[in-house]
Amino acid sequence: MRLDLATWPEVDVYLKSVPGIIVPTGSTEQHGPMGLIGTDAICAQQIAEGAADIVEAYVAPTIAYTPAPFNTAFPGTISVSEPLFEALVKEILGGLVQQGFKFVYFLNGHGANLAPLKRAAQSLEGVAIRIRSWWEYDTVNALRGEFYGDWEGMHATPSEVAITQATHRTISSGSAATPPKKLSAEYIRKHMGDRHGPPDRHREQFPDGRVGSHSALANPENGRTLMGAAIKALADDYLNLLGSN
Ligand code: NI
Repeated sequence: MRLDLATWPEVDVYLKSVPGIIVPTGSTEQHGPMGLIGTDAICAQQIAEGAADIVEAYVAPTIAYTPAPFNTAFPGTISVSEPLFEALVKEILGGLVQQGFKFVYFLNGHGANLAPLKRAAQSLEGVAIRIRSWWEYDTVNALRGEFYGDWEGMHATPSEVAITQATHRTISSGSAATPPKKLSAEYIRKHMGDRHGPPDRHREQFPDGRVGSHSALANPENGRTLMGAAIKALADDYLNLLGSN
């Protein structure tokens, strides 16, 4: 159930029974030669909507303008600063609480959102907040390993590309049929949460935008499987959040 497609009397009735909401967070940034600009937002939104149908929750409009400064040397990337994103999340949370929402579940699709989301969540009382990225659920993570192993990589992952193939469109792999360069364990550790360098250097280092991810391994069938697992995990975890108070 989408909040933007509801009426106020419907939300009024809903709030009296279960005052919970799912807020998808993504990005607007390059995802390699065969990944869509909106990949992170699409994945979070589709999974959130799937889970919301099961648990009969509202899904807030996706927050898709987020920090991705390292990708701004690639066309199509629109990044906002971390302080602005954090302030926006705080105000959205404040608005939800003022409306009477007591449980807010952020379903995230972009690594760089995590730190500011966590800081924004700390600022508020009277509301139970959970923040999870869709790839973190055990069942989803196991599938990522099974399907792609190390080739999942860090950016333009075959998992996220597979989900957008299942929901939107498949772009032929072209030059991305060739595997990207492998990342060292040290690189992965140092750049966790999208802590990448300045945009020009980042593009120089990863010229086609893939960061250790072999996007061409993606297929829509895997996308449907990954999405199904993520939807179930989110539905379970959302109910768990509702039961936490
Ligand atoms: Ni992504």
